[in-house]
Amino acid sequence: MLTRIDHVGIACQDLEAKIAFYQSAFGLTVASVEVNEGQGVREAMLHVTDSPAGASYVQLLEPLRPDTPVGRFLARRGEGVHHVGYGVADITTALAAIGATGVRLIDERPRHGSMGASIAFLHPADVGGVLTELVQAPDR
Ligand code: CO
Repeated sequence: MLTRIDHVGIACQDLEAKIAFYQSAFGLTVASVEVNEGQGVREAMLHVTDSPAGASYVQLLEPLRPDTPVGRFLARRGEGVHHVGYGVADITTALAAIGATGVRLIDERPRHGSMGASIAFLHPADVGGVLTELVQAPDR
């Protein structure tokens, strides 16, 4: 069902500084920088690699305000890994199958993610403490 690691989401205080770090330390390139008002973040996708199943990224997340999910995460835990995003071929099918196993779905229905993807989050308490995201890449 999971086709790849689509991205690792990392919470940070300063998006530009963190982009510069990932560029200089790892040679990654910026694929997109977007504001997602619905999630209260400004985010950058840095391309890591391509595979037959699709690309993989580092996703850097800077909160738009303190009273957002990533803002509260930073206040509580500081900078670091925020979530893991797995690629799926069909997110609606995957959500139904995973939900049927008893994992609670934060998003019952997919919503808009980075670069035109459809995404949905699973409850971290049911995934060993890991906030988990499913990602269906847009058709190319
Ligand atoms: Co994500």
